[in-house]
Amino acid sequence: MTPQSELSSGRRELPAAPLLAAAAGRKPVHRPVWFMRQAGRSLPEYREIRAGVGMLESCFNAELVCEITMQPVRRHGVDAAILFSDIVVPLKAAGIDLDIVGGVGPVVASPIRSAADVARLPRLEPAQVEAVSSAIRLLTAELGETALIGFAGAPFTLASYLVEGGPSRHHDRTKSLMHSDPTTWHALLGALTDITISFLQVQIEAGVDAVQLFDSWAGALSLADYRTFVMPHSKRVFEAVKSAGIPRIHFGVGTGELLGAMGEAGADVVGVDWRVPLAEAARRVGPGKALQGNLDPALLLGDWSAVEREVRRVLADADDAIEAGAVGHIFNLGHGVLPETDPSVLTRVVELVHSL
Ligand code: CP3
Repeated sequence: MTPQSELSSGRRELPAAPLLAAAAGRKPVHRPVWFMRQAGRSLPEYREIRAGVGMLESCFNAELVCEITMQPVRRHGVDAAILFSDIVVPLKAAGIDLDIVGGVGPVVASPIRSAADVARLPRLEPAQVEAVSSAIRLLTAELGETALIGFAGAPFTLASYLVEGGPSRHHDRTKSLMHSDPTTWHALLGALTDITISFLQVQIEAGVDAVQLFDSWAGALSLADYRTFVMPHSKRVFEAVKSAGIPRIHFGVGTGELLGAMGEAGADVVGVDWRVPLAEAARRVGPGKALQGNLDPALLLGDWSAVEREVRRVLADADDAIEAGAVGHIFNLGHGVLPETDPSVLTRVVELVHSL
């Protein structure tokens, strides 16, 4: 094992960590694997520790964040922990009135729809997310050689929650705002970009080893709209954190048409959902970046023989992706673990990926 050394930022150096090697185009000792939403309702120990504690309340309790983040690492032996938090945590911390409603998602008290609403948006002060920094310090002390991924919501996905007031199927108000009043739209995304950058910088300063920007709902946009209304802002996020020198991962769902642009926005690793095979994703992203993905999370609810077949197929696709110019592959699902998933299946997937 490589000894850990402390950097001035509090960041550890983990040159042998498979996730960091694969993201940087070095050869990992084994194929790295982790799962989006690996911490959460699929785990009985999560349901137990969260009983009677609100989602946002949990996210501002450093000891609880540390414990919940560690649960899937202990159970599954994944190559990365992802900070237990939520994309709306920095918005809440900055003073926006919102809640996370069980089985629904984020709900915003007063949706943001006018220039005046946008002008009132706060910025994030690092002290407002001190609980997150504390949790990261606890985690880096406990994780050993396992990488810790920090994250934030991308400006577009955050904007969708703020404009719609909650989860949305068609993002209709969001899309009409961007086209009818581009000035207000860009001011809104500018404010959210500032918040996202502050939130990521706090996490980097506290010691995360990689960051993932979730633009979960960007797949609702055409490529032209993505390039005009979204990409400049996401690009500013990636540029602002580049000097940290840690892998930057970019992910969204249903983004097959956007993969090239999402790579151009500046990520080192592009996350791919299950709709596009990794080799095709590598062609769309272009050479020089690593890929992350892309087992369909729904399959984990079925027979093991089908899971095994698909895991092998994803790994074979990843080999083709590397032939096509991708510099590495991080095994993951195409979106988050579904709450109904049997956690022992996830553990078996980790064992299988590591063995192949
Ligand atoms: O393990 C991990 O992946 C880390 C934790 C994590 C959560 N949210 C915890 C959570 C991460 C990375 C997120 C990001 C997030 N939050 C995204 C982007 C990722 C994605 O899924 O595309 C989005 C869109 C949100 C907004 C949000 N928060 C949704 C849609 C929901 C689910 C609503 C529900 O109850 O089904 C939440 C709540 C949430 N965030 C839960 C968890 C574990 C479930 C709440 C609970 O357990 O009570």
